[in-house]
Amino acid sequence: MALIEARDLTKVYSMGDQTVHALRGVSLDIEEGEFVAIMGASGSGKSTLMNILGCLDLPTAGEYRLAGEAVEGMQTDQLASVRNRRIGFVFQQFNLLPRTSALENVELPMVYAGVKAAQRRERAVAALQKVGLGERFNHTPAELSGGQQQRVAIARALVNQPQLILADEPTGALDSETSEDIMRLLADLNVQGMTVVIVTHEADIAAWARRKLVFKDGHILEDALQPSKNWGQTPIQNRGQTPIFGQTPISPLSAASASGVPA
Ligand SMILES: Nc1ncnc2c1ncn2[C@@H]1O[C@H](COP(=O)(O)OP(=O)(O)OP(=O)(O)O)[C@@H](O)[C@H]1O
Ligand SMILES: [Mg+2]
Repeated sequence: MALIEARDLTKVYSMGDQTVHALRGVSLDIEEGEFVAIMGASGSGKSTLMNILGCLDLPTAGEYRLAGEAVEGMQTDQLASVRNRRIGFVFQQFNLLPRTSALENVELPMVYAGVKAAQRRERAVAALQKVGLGERFNHTPAELSGGQQQRVAIARALVNQPQLILADEPTGALDSETSEDIMRLLADLNVQGMTVVIVTHEADIAAWARRKLVFKDGHILEDALQPSKNWGQTPIQNRGQTPIFGQTPISPLSAASASGVPA
């Protein structure tokens, strides 16, 4: 069973008398441990697909199973539960809470997941250390560089031990050197078994992935394996058995904004 199984997804947006066919029949399997980059022109449906894969939105038609769970008929609270249990999000604009320390930003998704304070602190510290921000715990976003803010966002995406990281243009607001650092970090997570799907407009960012999809007008135009920049690093199949931080899985609850998901 693939981690992501999408069959004939369509998405139609209606705005007044206008309809936009954002997805026109997208079928896609992504196995656990893959590193996938999605490219394509502006408006081709990349973010629409990411929102459906991330259970932030439902398709108009088609089927989507995430880790075997059929998502397409779910209610809002069920979708939130799936997101909290399985998915970490990274966005172009970081979406950190201002005037709130890095540590507290990373702790927030665990507050909503019902993790006790001491364990929250311990896991947030571990996540920040993992992304190389060991000495910046008490800095607010305004006191951090763009790359450091994105590291905080990645730490926040990791703390609930997701199986899947979805990153929509994670380097879109960063300079090229910082972008490379962020991609190296995502590639390292992938080597440790994390399934990673990114959207990017830049070929040298997509080159980090092992598989590249190209979208055009709501279709998949190309789907091919490629030699990744991280070539030689063998992905370890995580299969959801080995938590990245070695804690036991926690029970889900929802709080979209705690995970950086825009309201
Ligand atoms: N909430 C919405 N309501 C109406 N139309 C939408 C909505 N979201 C997206 N669209 C339309 O759906 C199409 C696909 O948009 P989408 O955001 O998926 O493109 P994209 O490939 O992510 O583009 P970009 O590279 O610019 O981010 C576009 O025509 C867009 O205008
Ligand atoms: Mg987009």
